[in-house]
Amino acid sequence: MIIQFELNGRLVSADAAPGSTLLEYLRGEELYSVKHGCDHGECGACTILVNSRSVNACLVLMHAVEGKKIETLESFSTHEQLPEMQESFLQAGAAQCGFCTPGMLLSVEALDREDGVVTEAGVKDALNGNLCRCTGYVKPVEAALKVLTQDRGALR
Ligand code: FES
Ligand code: FES
Repeated sequence: MIIQFELNGRLVSADAAPGSTLLEYLRGEELYSVKHGCDHGECGACTILVNSRSVNACLVLMHAVEGKKIETLESFSTHEQLPEMQESFLQAGAAQCGFCTPGMLLSVEALDREDGVVTEAGVKDALNGNLCRCTGYVKPVEAALKVLTQDRGALR
């Protein structure tokens, strides 16, 4: 089954087995920011963007990806300078073991692409599906709010 879609800015054709998931495909492409956690849509470690919305890649079958725009954290990275949100997580101590961090960063990226005022409740809601064993969530919320409220209105 040949599936065509956009992956991190490139048009790709994937030969996917029926029933295979986007998580399996992305890790097969060595996009290791997409973590293989629970495999059941519960931990958020495999969070990616599909048409700018945060989605658990383990729940997406490859046949559903046709024509979609897929983004993983690799599309945001440069080797010279960390993107602003990653820098904010770093400075805030919002990443410890880091297993959940790519998913968290993409969840807040999806929030950033939405219109409207950013609130602390909105950030917490955006991170609701990203389980973290290390940080207690306070630092990630602070780090995300700091960046998301710089350029537009914010309510705490
Ligand atoms: S691995 Fe996909 S939500 Fe846990
Ligand atoms: S930083 Fe370790 S699970 Fe979140």
